[in-house]
Amino acid sequence: MRMYDLITKKKHGEELSKEEIDFIVQGFTKGDIPDYQMSAFLMAVCFKGMNIRETIDLTRSMIDSGDRLDLSAIKGLKADKHSTGGVGDKTTLIVGPMVASLGVPVAKMSGRGLGHTGGTIDKLESFKGFSVSLTDEEFIDNVNRIGIAVIGQTADLCPADKKMYALRDVTATVDNKSLIASSIMSKKIAAGADTIVLDVKVGSGAFMKTFEDAKDLAEIMVKIGTGCGRKTYAVISDMSQPLGTCVGNSLEAYEAIEALKGNGPQDLMDACYTLASYMLIGVGKAKDINEAKLMLEGTIKSGAALAKLEEFVAAQGGDVSCIENVDRFPRTEFKEDIIATEEGYVSEILTDEIGMTSLLLGGGRETKDSVIDLSVGLKIRKKIGDFVSKGEPFVTLYANDIDRLRAASARVRSAYRFSAQKTQPSKHVLGIVTADGVTLY
Ligand code: URA
Repeated sequence: MRMYDLITKKKHGEELSKEEIDFIVQGFTKGDIPDYQMSAFLMAVCFKGMNIRETIDLTRSMIDSGDRLDLSAIKGLKADKHSTGGVGDKTTLIVGPMVASLGVPVAKMSGRGLGHTGGTIDKLESFKGFSVSLTDEEFIDNVNRIGIAVIGQTADLCPADKKMYALRDVTATVDNKSLIASSIMSKKIAAGADTIVLDVKVGSGAFMKTFEDAKDLAEIMVKIGTGCGRKTYAVISDMSQPLGTCVGNSLEAYEAIEALKGNGPQDLMDACYTLASYMLIGVGKAKDINEAKLMLEGTIKSGAALAKLEEFVAAQGGDVSCIENVDRFPRTEFKEDIIATEEGYVSEILTDEIGMTSLLLGGGRETKDSVIDLSVGLKIRKKIGDFVSKGEPFVTLYANDIDRLRAASARVRSAYRFSAQKTQPSKHVLGIVTADGVTLY
């Protein structure tokens, strides 16, 4: 087999066999297939797609590229969650502690930012000293002792995804359903949780721009998970505007702490309660969403979830002083309000542009090796349907570099649309996909 021929085959939209997919995945992982050929192949997949059989074979091949985590030493059924990527999505920092404080083990593997979307690891590293480089033994021990641990992708778990993810990030080949589904599901299955709850985002800030595409992606992932013996649920959620009010790593960590103190905005809390509820239902801790939600609300009211976040951050070496006093998060040198020049209602937010603005401020990676500035980002002061008076700020930018701030200020202004009539914002949770079918909310 020659990689050149397989690129050509996919370029013409032909179906690849299991053996051909294995040749590509294992060859790329071992370094026999160079980045430039893999980039061309990934771009061909973006243009021509893969069918469900190819997607499942791709997932299996990615799992087989490395080891699987053995979580059998963790007592009880383990729950995990994963988002397809959004802007302002800090749900893991809230959902993880809520679920763990109810005695359900959360053994989670997370990723870094991808394209315009943020990553949980970058957000957790906002707690100075926080490390996701735990050995398998430390990971299992932390989950057994405190109920929650988060690791980064280890070199030996789905190495194919690790290499492909980094390449997709810088070659504009992220937003393809088969590539997203296989990337997420290979890691989730190899990481060993019994219940997997997926958050499939749709809208201008998501990789899936239409509800139909998001539903397809959700169905593909649920099929893969169920086929591999895992209880799998996919929540379809709105990403036509940033989730919550903060975008940027330490700003999002701050917002997560506030949410655990009971001060979370409605859309963020809807997302967290729904995702966490299905984690509880999946492991049999709650019989339905109403019971689950009551239990979860209790963890916020009692302070148990906040205490769990503190225990979790401390166990992974992070500075917990900013949980007690959020003023201890690093401040940026510059802060600029973006002021409305006319009055009107916010009618649309180009959310991927908001994500790109955060990147432009230095809060995301521009190349595989970029160092990111965890303190920069945006505060979203006005969301869809809100009225803005002339002279009123609708976004605040936080920056450490004046040139980046200028560029970001122009970009964020063009990401907002206003109108004279009020636009109704979408509800946050749009539907749920299980092995039994789709339920629309
Ligand atoms: N998250 C992942 O882990 N992989 C993707 O491809 C997209 C989001």
